[in-house]
Amino acid sequence: MEQLNTLINIVYILSAVTFILGFKLMSNPISARRGNLISAVGMGAAIIVTLMDTHVERYEFILMGMVVGTLIGLLFAFRTPMTGMPQMVGLLNGFGGTASLLVAWAEFHAHPAGQGIFGGIVLWLTAIIGSVTFSGSLIAWAKLEEKFISGKPVMYTGQQFVTGAVLVGILGAGIMFALDTVAPEAYRYFALFSVLALILGVLLVIPIGGADMPVVICLLNSYSGMAACASGFIVQNNLLIVAGALVGASGIILTLIMCKAMNRSVANVFLGGFGAPVSGSGVDVVGELKEVKADDAYLMLEAANRVVIVPGYGMAVSQAQHAVRELTEALEKNGAEVSFAIHPVAGRMPGHMNVLLAEANISYDAMVEMDAINPTMETVDICMIIGANDVVNPAAQEDKTSPLWGMPIIEANRARTVIVMKRGKGKGFAGVENLLFYRNNCRMLYGDAKGSLQALIGEFKSAAGS
Ligand code: TAP
Repeated sequence: MEQLNTLINIVYILSAVTFILGFKLMSNPISARRGNLISAVGMGAAIIVTLMDTHVERYEFILMGMVVGTLIGLLFAFRTPMTGMPQMVGLLNGFGGTASLLVAWAEFHAHPAGQGIFGGIVLWLTAIIGSVTFSGSLIAWAKLEEKFISGKPVMYTGQQFVTGAVLVGILGAGIMFALDTVAPEAYRYFALFSVLALILGVLLVIPIGGADMPVVICLLNSYSGMAACASGFIVQNNLLIVAGALVGASGIILTLIMCKAMNRSVANVFLGGFGAPVSGSGVDVVGELKEVKADDAYLMLEAANRVVIVPGYGMAVSQAQHAVRELTEALEKNGAEVSFAIHPVAGRMPGHMNVLLAEANISYDAMVEMDAINPTMETVDICMIIGANDVVNPAAQEDKTSPLWGMPIIEANRARTVIVMKRGKGKGFAGVENLLFYRNNCRMLYGDAKGSLQALIGEFKSAAGS
């Protein structure tokens, strides 16, 4: 018995080490897969030794849960396209929150009396964070999928008062619960704050626009970690405490990084309203949109010595990454030097562009960060923008009234010529006009990004064949 406990604790410590090592390796795209694998092995080992614990009473339920959970997880993993990842992560956070809520409920049900004040507070915290995470994540998922609810911010009069009243209710029921953890009253308080916390999750997420959901999902991810950490205290499992704390901390850090890269405060994101149509811009749009066809765009590219490609959300939508690689090869064969300028918030997830380009075997060495590429932009012959919009919008530097004002951008406008691939006149995530598209050095190559790229590749091929 004693030896088993020692073994379990040793494996837990080693698992915690693999989690931290995994985080470290995941900070670099080249080592990220290895980091993920190492952490997964650590988690696998932790699950095995936890199942050996003598406190486990019924294996059949655990087995059933594992089989059902694995099947659902596999189904999601295979069916979710890369563009649907934020929603999928959102749902997984929600499941994590539900698990913590259920742990708190089961523990309270098993010991309805005698939790003490500390035990009562831990149960309360676990249940409310779990509930907020669950309902908030479902709303975030629905907003991103535009199912059941619109992606637009939902605002109404007295919103802050209603949210405040629910918070007070949760706090009041929690105090009563912690002071008097005896059935049957305690059951009522438990049910009351759990239901109120479910409502709070909905209230907190509905005012936020669908476009800001990835940031919300990061924060909910952090909440799910905190809920897991709190449930670790309930079931007295040290590894759950450590793993939950790591998820909680990393989720917060990621939320802050995302807000910083968008030059927005966390409060600005969570008070909602971003992405709604903006009235009156401080800078008038000057010039007109100048269209170019693939054959003329080919001639420009064919003569270029230095090409910088700026990928954005549209590349992900179009799944154009493999066509991007093919065009890169054609350009390089033609003697051009090609690099990729990656904005930290291009796309809809941190590292979105890096992952897609890596999937198409584009070398990480060719991917240059915004701060490194900007000083060299004047020496670029062609800056090719593939489905990017906000991350290259000069309004961020020129229009103080723009929602993008202050956001660091890739200064594509300073290149000699800019070719923009997009389907039409659709705006970017912030819902504002892009001043770059109207500049004299800018040409619009309309169409789905993959189709346009294939047309350009076709031009290079037929030139090589003739
Ligand atoms: P966006 O500003 O979202 O612009 C994407 C552009 O792609 C649109 O203007 C759209 O125009 C075009 N597009 C869509 N589908 C296309 C297709 N199939 N083929 C060609 N073009 C297509 O993208 P961005 O420049 O990458 O900026 C990202 C934005 O998301 C930033 O504002 C950022 O703050 C925000 N954001 C990012 C994150 C993270 S972590 N990456 C998280 C939250 C928010 P058409 O409709 O005309 O084609």
